[in-house]
Amino acid sequence: MNMPENDKQSLSMVTCTAPVNIAVIKYWGKRDEDLILPINSSLSVTLHQDQLKTTTTVACSRNFQQDRIWLNGKGEDISNPRLQSCLQEIRRFSRKRRNTGDSTSDVSGVSHKVHICSVNNFPTAAGLASSASGYACLVYTLSQLFGVENEQLSAVARQGSGSACRSLYGGFVQWKLGEQLDGKDSLAEQVESESYWPELRVLILVVSAEQKSVGSTSGMHTSVETSQLLKYRADVVVPSRMEEMIRVIRERDFPAFGELTMKDSNQFHAICLDTYPPIFYLNNMSHRIISLVHRYNQYYGETRVAYTFDAGPNAVIYTLQDHLPEFVQVVRHFFPLEVSGEEFVKGLPVCSADLSEELKRDINMEPTPKGIRYIISTKAGPGPCVMKDPNHHLLGADGLPKKSVISD
Ligand code: DP6
Repeated sequence: MNMPENDKQSLSMVTCTAPVNIAVIKYWGKRDEDLILPINSSLSVTLHQDQLKTTTTVACSRNFQQDRIWLNGKGEDISNPRLQSCLQEIRRFSRKRRNTGDSTSDVSGVSHKVHICSVNNFPTAAGLASSASGYACLVYTLSQLFGVENEQLSAVARQGSGSACRSLYGGFVQWKLGEQLDGKDSLAEQVESESYWPELRVLILVVSAEQKSVGSTSGMHTSVETSQLLKYRADVVVPSRMEEMIRVIRERDFPAFGELTMKDSNQFHAICLDTYPPIFYLNNMSHRIISLVHRYNQYYGETRVAYTFDAGPNAVIYTLQDHLPEFVQVVRHFFPLEVSGEEFVKGLPVCSADLSEELKRDINMEPTPKGIRYIISTKAGPGPCVMKDPNHHLLGADGLPKKSVISD
């Protein structure tokens, strides 16, 4: 066992955190739904955990009667097949290590039941998929508890949620689709670390409340069944885009990175429209943000800002530090808050900037009051971390969620 044991109760506990990631080359479509094997490779930027993260505590004890899980303060059903796959796989890897004598740590706890408690530091209302950070954190924490090596983890996290495999690394991360039927080569790997491109900044524009959209799992299933464009994308478009994306990241070429990011987001949403029946993730506000970004870039005659959208209407903006204050001011101007004084920009501070009348005139859009609820300002960040301080544990010495974690 990796962690200090609380001997009397034979309770072992580990707490870790894991980040959210936002794809710039999108994963959309599976060739194997059980193993979660994709039809194309994808590439993402891992966001900083100071702004967005999942924290998970896993405890194991010979006194636990059954595996249990609490998500954001509520007890949930542990029989979820994806959760079960992750648990089984980690236990299998751990036993394998023990049997081959590879493990230097005592992994006897692998035969005990686990209690899992997980919380996000961002509201579900932010519309950010929490499955990526959630499964990455679960798998990473289990691996710390049971002494499983890191190289195998992305294949396990992938079986929780495809995009989760990319959250096991910081910075710029690719998920290679792999060729094998068993998925052993369908793994995530770091392209460059979070410190490689420090000027790169990220804004999440949380748009006004919406009805719940089609989930990505069922959405991509229907796309695979019905969209011919998706096949073309996977076979022809993505292979060359992956190469180009890696090149422009290595060259820190923002205009090329931004253009490719926007084109790939647009192609993903075109495929959603080509799906039958069609899927609409973007709403009017998303469309306005798209127009605003293009008009802003056009004003300067270069790509200074780029958008990308996942399976929902919120925009994720990539830009460079130098252009950040002005662009945030542009967003404030065209999406004014009706009640002033509310915190509009959360996360990393953004300096104020003045907008020229010429820029406002050239953008030539009607302001949409309250169109954007708030902005989360962040940057690229590291992969999962182990929390050494026991105060961070979400479970108490009795193996149950601490009072502060429980929601009504
Ligand atoms: C649009 O990873 O949530 O965010 O594998 O079924 O759990 P499952 O899907 P999920 O899909 C993410 C889709 C996306 C694009 C991306 O993150 O690459």
